[in-house]
Amino acid sequence: PRTIWLTRHGESEYNVSGRIGGDPPLTPLGRRFALALSKFIGTFHPPPDESASTTITSTSIPPSSVTAPPPSSSFPRSTSLLPDDTFGGTDATTSRPRSPLSIWTSTLQRTIETVQHFSPTEYDLKRIKFLNEIYAGVCENMTYAEIEQTHPAEFKLRADAKLVYRYPGPGGESYVDVIERLRPIIIELERMQTNVLIVTHQVVLRTLLSYFIGVPLDDMPTLSVPLHTLYCLKPKPYGADLVKYRFNP
Ligand code: F6P
Repeated sequence: PRTIWLTRHGESEYNVSGRIGGDPPLTPLGRRFALALSKFIGTFHPPPDESASTTITSTSIPPSSVTAPPPSSSFPRSTSLLPDDTFGGTDATTSRPRSPLSIWTSTLQRTIETVQHFSPTEYDLKRIKFLNEIYAGVCENMTYAEIEQTHPAEFKLRADAKLVYRYPGPGGESYVDVIERLRPIIIELERMQTNVLIVTHQVVLRTLLSYFIGVPLDDMPTLSVPLHTLYCLKPKPYGADLVKYRFNP
């Protein structure tokens, strides 16, 4: 069966300083995760001209937990958009075959840096704005302590109703808004039969994982999805098998 790999980006400078949103680069540790990720995924999905000779070797990401419950039906379905801002794909300058693994990132540099070791001549790489992190409006680039201090009423509203709370300011989003913009991504994931690696952000990962393993909507905003954890999903007619790998730096 085909595989959907899901992970957050490698550790960013904001993860270290406790700031949210923005467009920070990876830290040295985050860049080490990026390298380990490419090596690990490459053992499962080698570039085509290497597939004959590549053997699966042990890596620094050992497996942990197993099977997940059936999928939730809490997401309404519709048909509409597909990934935007494509690069890679069919390359007119070369007829070289690509690995049957698509790699999707957001358009933020921390996810793009996380896939920097996957060559665009060997893998089909796409940057998709819908995979960007929740936009925190006026709270972008702040720490939670700063938000609590400067916008105490907003901080309380979010603590009381995280799922529906929408950050104030132009473009500010709620979890429900993010779920809504991920609908076309989920539809494409259900439709496609090829393998895909999605490198994204905390809220997007919570949403996608919750859809596939059936986490109730109310639990989704607090679902634990740590950095440097790779989820391997194999969708089945009812439910999905889930294996989790942790980066061991
Ligand atoms: O802290 C990393 C981050 O991805 C932020 O950019 C984002 O605002 C936050 O996580 C979302 O998590 P929560 O909904 O728990 O605040």
